[in-house]
Amino acid sequence: MSEIESVLVENRVFPPTAAQAAHARIQGMAGYEALCAEAAADLPAFWAKRARDLLVWHKPFTQTLDDSQAPFYRWFADGELNASANCLDRHLGTPVERRTAIVFESDDGQVSRVTYKELLARVSRFANALKAEGVQKGDRVILYMPMGVEGVVAMQACARIGATHSVVFGGFSAKALQERIQDVGAVLVITANYQMRGGKELPLKRIVDDALAMGGCDSVRRVLVYERTATAWDKVDGRDKGFAEALAGQSDQCAPTPVDAEHPLFVLYTSGSTGKPKGVQHATAGFLLMVRQTFEWTFDWAADDVFWCTADIGWITGHSYVAYAPLAAGATQVIFEGVPTYPDAGRFWQMIERHKVSIFYTAPTAIRSLIKAADSDATVHPRNWNLDSLRVLGSVGEPINPEAWMWFYREVGHERCPIVDTFWQTETGAHVITPLAGVTPLVPGSCTLPMPGVDVAIVDESGQDMPKGSGGMLVIRKPWPSMIRTIWGDPERFKKAYFPPELGGGVYLAGDGAVRDVKTGYFRITGRIDDVLNISGHRMGTMEIESALVAKTDLVAEAAVVGRPDDLTGEAICAFVVLKRPVKDAADGAAIAKTLRDWVAQEIGPIAKPKEIRFGDNLPKTRSGKIMRRLLRSLAKGDAITQDTSTLENPAILGQLDQKY
Ligand code: WT7
Repeated sequence: MSEIESVLVENRVFPPTAAQAAHARIQGMAGYEALCAEAAADLPAFWAKRARDLLVWHKPFTQTLDDSQAPFYRWFADGELNASANCLDRHLGTPVERRTAIVFESDDGQVSRVTYKELLARVSRFANALKAEGVQKGDRVILYMPMGVEGVVAMQACARIGATHSVVFGGFSAKALQERIQDVGAVLVITANYQMRGGKELPLKRIVDDALAMGGCDSVRRVLVYERTATAWDKVDGRDKGFAEALAGQSDQCAPTPVDAEHPLFVLYTSGSTGKPKGVQHATAGFLLMVRQTFEWTFDWAADDVFWCTADIGWITGHSYVAYAPLAAGATQVIFEGVPTYPDAGRFWQMIERHKVSIFYTAPTAIRSLIKAADSDATVHPRNWNLDSLRVLGSVGEPINPEAWMWFYREVGHERCPIVDTFWQTETGAHVITPLAGVTPLVPGSCTLPMPGVDVAIVDESGQDMPKGSGGMLVIRKPWPSMIRTIWGDPERFKKAYFPPELGGGVYLAGDGAVRDVKTGYFRITGRIDDVLNISGHRMGTMEIESALVAKTDLVAEAAVVGRPDDLTGEAICAFVVLKRPVKDAADGAAIAKTLRDWVAQEIGPIAKPKEIRFGDNLPKTRSGKIMRRLLRSLAKGDAITQDTSTLENPAILGQLDQKY
């Protein structure tokens, strides 16, 4: 049975227990429906009320939603605030100032703690260092950092002085980093000499050097280097400064710079269906409001919780639910530098026990790999640790298959903890379809119901609502505060990609397929409907990988990339490649495949390496020369070819594409 069929027949329902319901701030489904009704009656008023309650304003807003330039919506536009003040200063003089903000566990298991008061001092000091380097409100700063307190401090420090941060995940290549530095026009890059992952020391600063050496980065005046390890690094005189040098003598007091509500808090690059990654731009107030509100509603967070989100700050989950929401709420959170399998696959369970984690938020890929590890080695099964502190579990990034859901529910949550399967995107900024812990009855494999205040629907190509039980395209019909504001430097692409005219121009197209259950109305995400793949919860555009492959001009004539289902990573990348010379034998094929994988890792990053490569002297094309991607998807999946191949220009090609490397 296919994944989609197996979730469609899923009929196990897990209502909240009495204890979970009693803890929740929203009173049952009636409470949830009341919130939805409140939002439906007056959407701007719904969010205005919460923006006044949950955010600290330097200058209060008087206008809530400005749709005069739709789809360039503006929220709370005449208000002024500062994101860092909303995460740190607001807690001063309250009991929260002495609370632990971050429990940091390093790759090698060392633990350190930072209180809210200490974090404010560190952020302020860093903000002063940025000012001393001449960074001004509106400037862009690139972060290429390991997972740790310093990364969060750097993000908050940018926000404090009104600089827009753009974090690039440490797994991206020098080329990918250079493209982002150039596109966003960064004045400063913050990095570390090395990052520690799985016991290995990986160079970060050297990759920054390579990126800057590629040219086109003249905007960069300074590189600040966090010395994570004692290992020496090459210093470019006049350009590079270690953290110690940059922070020396800086005061730990820095008044936050008020910015307009719409001021760009950050730009985060993500893959789309065309070649170039998109710089998703988020606004200060709307983003902050919704990450804080959803943090409280989805996870049913309370002051005594220990929250742990395993996402890296290089992804949106690490922005919304590590760098901002927990701090705005005054939560205690765990930040982990390393990987789930080092020193062994019991690391997550050991850390939950050690730090008494009560809300644990992770990705299906991690769960699937830990199931596999526990199946083959009983000593890393979660039953070896005391997980009684857990109260709520969360999943994010890709559909969670019911089998993984049930294991997570039983073996980790001991059937006591709701699992919130949170559907959202870089562009939505915050959860948009998700169960609310202690409120929503759960169904394995379903992200259940919309967040109150987000108008989600499923429509056909002409924008007509689909009846329950029929699949269609997921859309959001009305603006929401944490929505993407534009694509950095490319407003036309923003309009085209997300607000297609066929849907009326004001309806947001998510890019996912979805279907609602006939009885419950619950949503199930059926996967992307564009040329975007989801590999271990990481988004990759097929065209991006194709462009990288054909850029290897001495070897590759043509390439087509498709996804196929994979038990561990959700989807796997399959590349069909036409070479400029014939493959001599299997050893030659394997050697070329390795060259191409290394090349893609260098062009984009290791996450973009094709799992499978097949060679042919052409690709299956129609007579008009169009590559038949559906056919390639069937081949990749190993399915029998059921498509009509009579329109193929070159049917003989299919026989060649069997050999996998
Ligand atoms: C895409 C967005 C949202 C943070 C991490 C990914 C897929 C995300 C779920 C889920 C099914 C999911 C979608 C979406 N996705 N969460 N709970 N169930 N699919 O952010 O990199 O912007 O990717 O991830 O396909 O469009 P992203």
